[in-house]
Amino acid sequence: MRRLVIYGGKPLYGTIGVQGSKNAALPILAATLLTDEVCEIRNCPDLTDIHAAIQILQSLGARVSYHGDVVTVCAAGANKSIICDDLMCKMRSSVMFLGPILSRFKQARITFPGGCALGARPIDLHISSMQKLGVEFREEGESICARMDRLRPQTVTLMFPSVGATENLLLLCAVSSGETQIINAAREPEVVDLQNFLNAMGADIRGAGTDVIHIRGVASLHGCTHRVIPDRIAAATYACATVACGGNVLLTRVEPAHLSMFLAILREIGAETEVRDEQLRIRMRQRPIAPGTIKPLPYPGFPTDMQPLLMAALLKGTGTAMFTETIFENRFKHVHEFLRMGADIRVENMNAVVRGVSGLHGAKVEALDLRGGAALAIAGLSARGKTSLGGLSHIERGYENLTENLRALGADAEMIDT
Ligand code: EPZ
Repeated sequence: MRRLVIYGGKPLYGTIGVQGSKNAALPILAATLLTDEVCEIRNCPDLTDIHAAIQILQSLGARVSYHGDVVTVCAAGANKSIICDDLMCKMRSSVMFLGPILSRFKQARITFPGGCALGARPIDLHISSMQKLGVEFREEGESICARMDRLRPQTVTLMFPSVGATENLLLLCAVSSGETQIINAAREPEVVDLQNFLNAMGADIRGAGTDVIHIRGVASLHGCTHRVIPDRIAAATYACATVACGGNVLLTRVEPAHLSMFLAILREIGAETEVRDEQLRIRMRQRPIAPGTIKPLPYPGFPTDMQPLLMAALLKGTGTAMFTETIFENRFKHVHEFLRMGADIRVENMNAVVRGVSGLHGAKVEALDLRGGAALAIAGLSARGKTSLGGLSHIERGYENLTENLRALGADAEMIDT
């Protein structure tokens, strides 16, 4: 068993390059099934979730290679429309293969996807919107079987702007005859990146980044080369670590426009931020000041994935911060571990009230999900003494070289085998 051991209490100084976006790369990898030609995906982060997506592509018959940060896929040999449960349960994004498999084979067989246990995380919006377009679903034991004769492009309204459901519709409808319109589409930058990738393959999709997306189906797609956008959640993680510990950190290879709401909050809590092209500097010279209520919302609102990270940054703040979770019901699992480090937090239903304390102490804590795990690492960096963090498999789903990056910023962090 490996653990991340941190001796905290040191300010962070230095520069790190931010990895490519996991949540953009995953649906893009699924999209490579839509052509027989070669697709080259650059700036692809080296993460267990990415390897899980590669395994799914290979299990379907695609040829995949991964060198440096470039994943090359040729799906010409793809001949299977079934994803086995072992692969489906490795991550939530396995469901993103439903759209492309259906588009290619007119049938698919999958099981319910895995991923962080953040609550129920149903896929009803994926299913109901595809049903409207002519896909028939039936459950067979643990399996979900889907088939269609011909897609019936039309207007689909999502009851909630689900990122995954929006992306699955793009993947299903890019190759079709007719026009599909998605109303109340998710506006996340990762959806825009998928649109850009599909358009580079020859698709005709407009509107991603707004709440109405128009997909004019095309007869076929071709190979392309694409660079994945920077990971805004990873950037926020290093920024929150700087806020929690104090110091001066330069993040390179970021897209500041994707971080607008987050940066507004950072300034409110007392951080100095400087944006230049693809660089973001964070300077923190004081205790963070508790902001008003933090309420995650779909993009461009404050992202739910950053909520645990910001909470970690505010544990030693002045005043009382209130977090209200609206997207996932089990987003506060890390709170129990924060309490073991001396934090003062009260959780009631979907609200967490964080009273700033003057200091935290290290403890033995466990990551229970990806962002909660990263938040525990941040708390450990700002705590006095030794923190030993387990459950690293959760963190490795989303962070490339976390230990090395923290060490590059001067943190006393080390991965050990126990
Ligand atoms: C994406 O998940 C991200 N994952 C998540 O990031 C992120 O937390 C989430 O969007 C919200 O921003 C990827 O992109 C791979 P949703 P997704 O569909 O697509 C409900 C991380 O840490 N819902 O927008 O699964 C759902 O339960 C991960 O990197 C339904 O009810 O999110 C949730 O309450 C974790 N039915 C809300 O919508 C559905 O069919 C938002 O989910 C689909 C979703």
